[in-house]
Amino acid sequence: MNHLCMLALVCFLLFVHSNSSSSVILHSSLLLLSKIESIEKKLNIDDVIRGVSYLLAARTKAQKDVWCWLMKACTFSLSWCTSAASLGPVSFGRRQTPDNIVQKFKYLLILDFEATCEKNVQIKNQEIIEFPCIAVSTKNWEIESIFHEYVKPRVNPIISPFCTELTGIMQETIENEEYFPVVLDKFSTWLATNNFIKDINNSSNNNNNNNNYESTFVTCGDWDLKVMLPNQCSLDNLPVPHYFNQWINLKRIFYMATQYYPTSLRDMLNKLNLSAQGRLHSGIHDSVNMKRIIETIANKYPVKFDYTSKTKAILD
Ligand SMILES: *[C@@H]1O[C@H](CO)[C@@H](O)[C@H](O)[C@H]1NC(C)=O
Ligand SMILES: *[C@@H]1O[C@H](CO)[C@@H](O)[C@H](O)[C@H]1NC(C)=O
Ligand SMILES: *[C@@H]1O[C@H](CO)[C@@H](O)[C@H](O)[C@H]1NC(C)=O
Repeated sequence: MNHLCMLALVCFLLFVHSNSSSSVILHSSLLLLSKIESIEKKLNIDDVIRGVSYLLAARTKAQKDVWCWLMKACTFSLSWCTSAASLGPVSFGRRQTPDNIVQKFKYLLILDFEATCEKNVQIKNQEIIEFPCIAVSTKNWEIESIFHEYVKPRVNPIISPFCTELTGIMQETIENEEYFPVVLDKFSTWLATNNFIKDINNSSNNNNNNNNYESTFVTCGDWDLKVMLPNQCSLDNLPVPHYFNQWINLKRIFYMATQYYPTSLRDMLNKLNLSAQGRLHSGIHDSVNMKRIIETIANKYPVKFDYTSKTKAILD
């Protein structure tokens, strides 16, 4: 643990628990710090944090916020520290930098389906009508390749005016496109030829040992791969491809990075001070905006992109 960081924490504790002047506090902090340094190896830092948080439990909210902010600066994340995010990104001390993080995946495959919809009703047999996927390298967060197809719905071939309004997708846009199974085939070829998913036709990848993937999907929420894709596959009598069994929910990663759980894509953009590019609820534009969010948090916070979600096919 960093000295400056520890000093700040100890100063703050003394400030909260004593009436001494600032120079006395600083002096005692330095003394304490030298002791803590030597016992640190024997102490479990989690126990220290738990103890101190107990000490602070009865204190004011403002003090708790400052404490949370300091803990964050020292790269501890505490579950009760959700309000700390409102104090903005931390910037002092030698903390773990995004550069120290070794990413698990070579590529993140940002995916955002749009589907047939009606105003205020959950339509039966909802179908995918836009299938965008942006592959981003975790080395430099640059776009490696883009897959983008519109899909012709089969069960409800006419899309509603509400749906056009929401997604910007017009009847003409999908009229001459392929049905889902053909588009999924094209997608699978795209994944294979770009080497995003190796050994793509080997369905024995569909097991618990999914550490053999070099890429995984990132979606905003879990709807795309937990609900929409399995429903679409069942409608078309297709097995769910093995590579869709686990993925990353961007909202959860956002929470891990900032301690704030976002409600939507727009919410994440707002919190990061990014203006929305293009049209919200257009699949491709939403994917581009997700890419900007990913790049921003990856450069700002020491966050590792790892699986957050899985389908029932993956056993615990
Ligand atoms: C996977 O299988 C499909 C259909 O059987 C085939 O067209 C495709 O070339 C195969 N892809 C690879 C990378 O072997
Ligand atoms: C398919 O994948 C399994 C497990 O990942 C592997 O043991 C096997 O050799 C692969 N089969 C082929 C034909 O590559
Ligand atoms: C966001 O932008 C506003 C206005 O430009 C600025 O006042 C604020 O400090 C920014 N917040 C962050 C976290 O960058």
